[in-house]
Amino acid sequence: MLIPIILSGGAGTRLWPVSREAHPKPFMCIGQEGKTLLYQTYERAVSVTRKAPLIVTNRDYYFLSRDELAGQPLKPRYLLEPTGRNTAPAIALAALWALEQGSDPCMLVMPADHLITKHDAFAEAISHAATFAEQGGLILFGISPSGPETGFGYIEMAGKIAPHANAVRRFVEKPDLATAIDYIAQGNYVWNSGMFCFKASSIIDAFAQHAPQLLEAARTIWKASEENGDRIDLPADFAELENISIDYAVMEKTANIAVVSGDFGWSDIGSWSAVAQAIPADPMGNTATGQSIVIDSRNTHIESQDRLVAAIGLDNLLIIDTPDALLVADKTKSQDVRKIVSHLKATD
Ligand code: GDD
Ligand code: MG
Repeated sequence: MLIPIILSGGAGTRLWPVSREAHPKPFMCIGQEGKTLLYQTYERAVSVTRKAPLIVTNRDYYFLSRDELAGQPLKPRYLLEPTGRNTAPAIALAALWALEQGSDPCMLVMPADHLITKHDAFAEAISHAATFAEQGGLILFGISPSGPETGFGYIEMAGKIAPHANAVRRFVEKPDLATAIDYIAQGNYVWNSGMFCFKASSIIDAFAQHAPQLLEAARTIWKASEENGDRIDLPADFAELENISIDYAVMEKTANIAVVSGDFGWSDIGSWSAVAQAIPADPMGNTATGQSIVIDSRNTHIESQDRLVAAIGLDNLLIIDTPDALLVADKTKSQDVRKIVSHLKATD
């Protein structure tokens, strides 16, 4: 049995002003017109597993998520966090839930804010991964790197263990730029896509070995959780769990990992320039969502929510217009949008 676990936590600060705390990245419509990233993730999860997903999210997003997925035949369950503590606590609690579903299911962990365009290739990768996960391994999904990105985990591949799977020599989460450049030059590294597949007991064993305190605390939290219909509320003590990602807590430390690589049109849509790359461009490289007129401009991305945006003679710019905030930025600086959010928080 393969159960999808959808992680829907982060605010996506580099996609300000559309992504806000009250309206975070999983609720943005990107890639497919009118479909949020959460909805697309749900559809993808259900089409490969035919099982109702567990959505791990903040309790503030429960109603928004439920409205988004209302009317779906496979009703998701919601594991609700009082506050975000990063992916290791979220996955530990999801694993404790999964164990109670019986027969030690495989968990397919999927971030709610990624785009995948090649569905057949994706389904094939999942089926390879599930086979290995059944044997007790922790399976990562590798993506061929297109440049020395420092926002990703890097997987150094060792020998092939099957046509689409490699053993892993090591996993390094978010290396610095010089290290990333070195890895790309070596050629035997892939990016970690942030999706995982493992049996519930395998990830619990890995926590027991590499993060035993976190696991013990998570067990106590799990015992105090309350189930109400489709929601499971985690208690306030959840906020005391260590704030650490699964990548640092487990994946960097364990030898029990393998990687299934594939080209499934993956993008983590981390910034406005990634959004622009994910939608079709005009012959001059301009992209737009909403109403806009663009004259004599190149490589410019315009997002307009409420009104017409007109541009003349622009090159490589981002214009993101919302009812209460306007962002104008050089496209090459799209990673720096998070600095605006930090500035706003500091001056709040
Ligand atoms: N429920 C819940 N609670 N979900 C969370 C939390 C949390 O506290 N924190 C993060 N998430 C969700 C995010 O919404 C996202 O969907 C996913 O977990 C990954 O978290 P990010 O914060 O986006 O991680 P990252 O992008 O810095 O790094 C991860 O993804 C990269 C690929 O996009 C790592 O796994 C990297 O190794 C990987 O390359
Ligand atoms: Mg991310």
